[in-house]
Amino acid sequence: MTKPAKKLFLKTFGCQMNVYDSERIAEALAPLGYGETQEIGEADLVILNTCHIREKAAEKVYSELGRIGGIKSARRERGRDTVIAVAGCVAQAEGRAIVERAPVVDIVVGPQSYHRLPDLLVRARREDRHVVDTEFPEEDKFRRLPARGAGRRPPAAFLTVQEGCDKFCTFCVVPYTRGAEYSRAVAEIVTEAERLAQAGVREVTLLGQNVNAYHGQGPDGAAWSLARLLRRIAAVSGIERVRYTTSHPRDMDDDLIAVHGEVEEVMPYLHLPFQAGSDRILAAMNRKHTVDDYRRLIARIREARPDIALSTDIIVGFPGETDAEFDATLRLVDEVTFAQAYSFKYSPRPGTPAATIEEQVPEPVKADRLAALQQALNAQKAAFNAACVGRTMPVLLERPGRLAGQLVGRSPYLQPVHTMAPESRVGEIAAVEIVSAGPNSLEGDTKSESDLPLEVAALH
Ligand code: 5AD
Ligand code: SF4
Repeated sequence: MTKPAKKLFLKTFGCQMNVYDSERIAEALAPLGYGETQEIGEADLVILNTCHIREKAAEKVYSELGRIGGIKSARRERGRDTVIAVAGCVAQAEGRAIVERAPVVDIVVGPQSYHRLPDLLVRARREDRHVVDTEFPEEDKFRRLPARGAGRRPPAAFLTVQEGCDKFCTFCVVPYTRGAEYSRAVAEIVTEAERLAQAGVREVTLLGQNVNAYHGQGPDGAAWSLARLLRRIAAVSGIERVRYTTSHPRDMDDDLIAVHGEVEEVMPYLHLPFQAGSDRILAAMNRKHTVDDYRRLIARIREARPDIALSTDIIVGFPGETDAEFDATLRLVDEVTFAQAYSFKYSPRPGTPAATIEEQVPEPVKADRLAALQQALNAQKAAFNAACVGRTMPVLLERPGRLAGQLVGRSPYLQPVHTMAPESRVGEIAAVEIVSAGPNSLEGDTKSESDLPLEVAALH
């Protein structure tokens, strides 16, 4: 292989959808001669793929741009040019304001326009000016991006199947930054999954901002549900594990619940945000479900798959949230019990309805609530992990760990598992006997025989 002529430094913030987009961006730039580097000082092109979901994330981008501006000047002194591009949701939300606040930036590109990056690069160079593309173009970026290559890949991969959101939760920027809900066609997704499998991928996580609202066109012309898509992807030869995220409680239909009990490849893990434990707050959030709807849904899911590991997103300090309403959140956490969860202090996002509500909760109150909530969630996570000790689980060995001779994999419940095994076993779904559990991960002994038929015993 010839050495790539130019170097690309690509930094990803935020969610898994950005991780997926970054891979596609790198693949789109490879034909132009860009190879990735981890050394920013060597990069001819620096791309920050940004996240706008919470305030600090956008601020981090600006401080990062300050630092990169210094690197750009230092390179210029050595006669080297550096193109700086900001992609992702901050790019979409802030648009031209980015080049005004950080003039070192050459290109601002929204998430729907990545297929245009090669053109934007040419324009930025030729016209020697800032280029901003934050349109929601008519053409479909997925069809315009180069097909995924068949070179070896790590055994677990993301695959975006749906983008955007029509739910309009009052705290959330996603419907504005990622636009209206859109589902890719089934055939396109199946082809991509087959290519991933040929490249050594054994586990695929189907991604979407509201993935279970998926309604892509099937080969039969009908709109397929996520449940139907999961069954189809599970049947792709070489794909042995399937996951999906993120779901909305309103879109958990009967068939999707049934899939958890019926399709062996669908892993016993579900990320299902509930956001708040009070009906008044849920209504103010425009969540379109009540606490009781969520409770009943969880009961049905556990009936279909008793050992399912549940994860969720929770916001504390939504405008007007009282102590009693926050206590209701803690009670729901106690009642449901989560294997893991993400929790956040409410942060007003410009342009969203909740940002204009007057009764914002004071910062110290939010901090206290978050600490209390995280204490409860951490205890549940530790208990879930501890309950795994002594079990033998099928673990997909994904990559070398930090210690020599160590590999890191994932259990069916998405827990990281550390184990001593040779690197040649990466990509294997090995039987691992769990010997100890920490707050965030497990440790285990890998059995010598691979792919033992394992029963994943109920944890609840
Ligand atoms: N403030 C705090 N948390 C937020 N999230 C989304 N918007 C906000 C906001 N304005 C959280 C939600 C969502 C997760 C991805 O981020 O819990 O599910
Ligand atoms: Fe945002 Fe999720 Fe609500 Fe859509 S469903 S508006 S992505 S929090």
